[in-house]
Amino acid sequence: MRVAVITISDRASSGVYEDLCGPEIERLIREHYPHCELKRDIVADEKSEIESVLKKYWGVDYIITTGGTGISPRDVTPEVTKEFCDRSLPGIAETLRRESYKETPFAVFSRGYAGIKGNTIVVNFPGSLKAVRLCTGILAPVMEHGIKMIRGEHH
Ligand code: MTE
Repeated sequence: MRVAVITISDRASSGVYEDLCGPEIERLIREHYPHCELKRDIVADEKSEIESVLKKYWGVDYIITTGGTGISPRDVTPEVTKEFCDRSLPGIAETLRRESYKETPFAVFSRGYAGIKGNTIVVNFPGSLKAVRLCTGILAPVMEHGIKMIRGEHH
């Protein structure tokens, strides 16, 4: 399995604070998939940067983003991801939001999108440690099955 984890944050990308979410997703994915190939990147909340980084990693099995899903003026992750994808995966986005709501009512403000471009599944997580722990825990057990289906293999 090949995975790209992309942190989308003005402050983490400029070094104002350390990116904790990207490394945490990596740690949890590696727990489930010790042999996965995993790369990480960080970009600002900037449409052009998000587009470029999605294109850069397109072709891996999963692109997981964290951050920029909210409603502050700079949050554009869902729009850019939706535009990038050619099919949507509403079940993933709905489930992450529903389970997140059990953790915090502010989950209603996360507009995270999930979709597919070619054989790559792209999923937006919110940009908090609690959120990425929950979302990675939900996604990790079904990731392998998703990859097999997308390749048209038996499931
Ligand atoms: N989901 C979970 N599971 N845990 C969280 O702490 N934070 C919420 C929400 N979803 C949160 C969550 C908050 S406070 C916001 S503003 C939105 O995600 C958007 O966060 P983002 O803009 O960092 O992506």
